[in-house]
Order: sequence, then C-alpha cells, then structure tokens
Amino acid sequence: MHTPKNVLLVGGSGFIGQQVAHLLVSRGCTVRIPTRRRSRVQSLLTLPTAEVIEANVHDRLTLQNLMEGQDTVINLVGILHSSGGRPYGRDFARAHVALPQAIARTAEAADIKRIVHVSALGAERTAPSEYLRSKADGEAAIRGGSVPWVIMRPSVVFGPGDSFLNLFANLQHLFPVMPLGGAKARMQPVYVGDVAQCIVEALYHVEAINHIYRLCGPHIYTLEQLVKYVGEQIGAIRPILSLPTPLAWLQAAALEFAPGPTLMSRDNLRSLKVDSVCPDDCSLPFGVEATPLESVAPNYLTHKSSRDHYADIRQRARR
Ligand SMILES: NC(=O)c1ccc[n+]([C@@H]2O[C@H](COP(=O)([O-])OP(=O)(O)OC[C@H]3O[C@@H](n4cnc5c(N)ncnc54)[C@H](OP(=O)(O)O)[C@@H]3O)[C@@H](O)[C@H]2O)c1
Repeated sequence: MHTPKNVLLVGGSGFIGQQVAHLLVSRGCTVRIPTRRRSRVQSLLTLPTAEVIEANVHDRLTLQNLMEGQDTVINLVGILHSSGGRPYGRDFARAHVALPQAIARTAEAADIKRIVHVSALGAERTAPSEYLRSKADGEAAIRGGSVPWVIMRPSVVFGPGDSFLNLFANLQHLFPVMPLGGAKARMQPVYVGDVAQCIVEALYHVEAINHIYRLCGPHIYTLEQLVKYVGEQIGAIRPILSLPTPLAWLQAAALEFAPGPTLMSRDNLRSLKVDSVCPDDCSLPFGVEATPLESVAPNYLTHKSSRDHYADIRQRARR
C-alpha cells in the first residue's frame, strides 16, 4: 500500500491547490510547491511542512530536481485562455499537454509511486472547445505512462476565492444588466474543499489506481440560475439578457480584445456547449459528502464593497 510522505504539488499555489496543500500538511506529508511567483502565495509560506519554490516546471532539468526525493506527484496546472489553434492553441498545448507529458516521463525515472492529475469534466478529443480537447490529451499523456495514476474531472468549482461565482458577483455590482452567453448551459458546481479532499483521499485508496473520477456537487443549475442566485445573495439583482449565439459570440470576441483580464473568450463559450454535469451517479468518491452551494456561497459572496469588487478584478488581471 502507498502511503504518501513527500508530495510534489504542481499548481499547488492556485485556488484548489492551496486547499490540497493544507490538507496534505494536516495529514503529516511534506509538500513541495513550485510557483512562478513565490510572493503570491503568502498563505502557504507559513505551512510547517510545505516548501514553496520559485521554479519553471516546463524546464526538464528543473522538473527532475523537483521530483528528487518525492514519492507522489499531484498536477493541478490549468489555464482558461490561450491563443487559438487546431486542435488547440499553444498556451493550452504547453500547460495542458506538454507539461503532463513531461510529468509522466520524469515521474517514471524518479520512481514516483502515484500521480494524481486534475483534468476537467467534459475533457474529450472531440469536444467543441480547445480547453477540453487539450485537457483530454493531457489525460492521455498521464495514462500512457507507467506510474500508477488517478485522474480527477471536476465540474465548475466554487468556494472562497473562486473565479466563477465571484466574477458574477463583481460584474453585477458594477453593471446594471447582465448580458449572458451560454445562459442555458447546465453545470453541477462542486465545493473546493470536497475536491481537495477527493484528491488527497485518492493518494491513500488502492482502488483509486488507474481510475477517472467525475467530481460534481449535489445539484444541477443553468448558468442563468447561478447568476440570478449570486445577484440575490449580494443584493444586486440585475436583469439577465440571455444572448442568442451570434451575439454571445460577438460579445466574447470583444471581451478577448478588451484591455484588462479576459472575462470570457470564444473558447469558453464553446466549452459551455457541453453540459458540465455527471451523466449518472453523482456521488463523490471515498465517502466524501458533497457540500451544497447554498450552505457555503452566501458566506463569501456577501460583505464586499464596490471598491473590493474593482480590486478583485484588478488582482485577477495580474494573474
Ligand atoms: N476552478 C475550477 O472551476 C476548475 C474546474 C474544472 C477543472 N479545473 C482544473 O483544476 C486545476 C486547478 O484549477 P484552479 O482553479 O486551482 O486553477 P488556478 O487557481 O488558476 O491555479 C492554477 C495553477 O496553475 C499554475 N499555472 C498556471 N499557468 C501556468 C503555466 N503556464 N505554467 C506553470 N504553472 C502554471 C499556477 O501557478 P503560479 O503560482 O505559477 O501562477 C497555479 O498554481 C486546473 O487544471 C483546472 O483546469 C478547475
């Protein structure tokens, strides 16, 4: 049986990764977390058995050095936007495909005992979006290696600091109406704490080896329902204009070229063509109980001033 001791947490500085890091430390693991900018992850610097290292994980030798002395690798690197291309643009190719390929190869040589790779619900080679196609090829790279693997495919993830419900809260604070592409897209939001718990449990359960797990919350919503719910919670109920496809397309194209952070791209819109829901049994693995959105979201969506919402958007622009 594999008992993780030393874990390389690639992408550990992000929204989900930080929760995973805290859980691993609480389970007695030492955690090595590479990041492009150490100063961004203050909350990890004080963790007793975590080591945050400024490193370029795309460099083969650096990756080898990072894996030295480790027994487990978790990969959470992911991006939402890329320059376009067929089957996907070069940023998606680098972060979602080349990096998992390098991780799989380097892990074999480093005698790593298990890799947990975080993908996304709907990852398919034939998916309509570049994001999902590149995620599918990343999964294939991990599955093609000889190190025992576990793949996690979350639906959209919510929790304090998320870029999803918080984005719609910020927008509704700032604008009087909400023009929405993909309003009828269905999703099954899953709580970040539950996702982190499933990732960590996958390291301890032998039956998890070479399995793909879909991670979904207890309820299905349309995007429009979620935006309306967020508006109600923050006391800024805005009329939602469900945009027909050509208009949604134009809006996304305009947002891609607007200065500042990309709020929505044409590829994001293509991702919304596929429902992000579990087709059958949607219970989480390893006995993890799915947390309802309504029991967590109100706590972190409220209590923000307009100034906080501007600051939020500015901060995301720098990431
Ligand atoms: N959040 C969701 O709703 C959701 C839903 C489904 C699937 N997922 C998947 O879950 C994983 C984690 O998501 P998240 O929300 O935690 O992401 P996140 O907060 O954006 O964090 C992304 C992480 O990836 C690293 N990273 C980003 N671009 C990189 C690059 N070009 N090279 C090297 N490292 C890079 C970042 O490290 P730095 O410190 O260097 O910036 C950060 O640690 C991703 O694979 C994502 O696709 C997320």
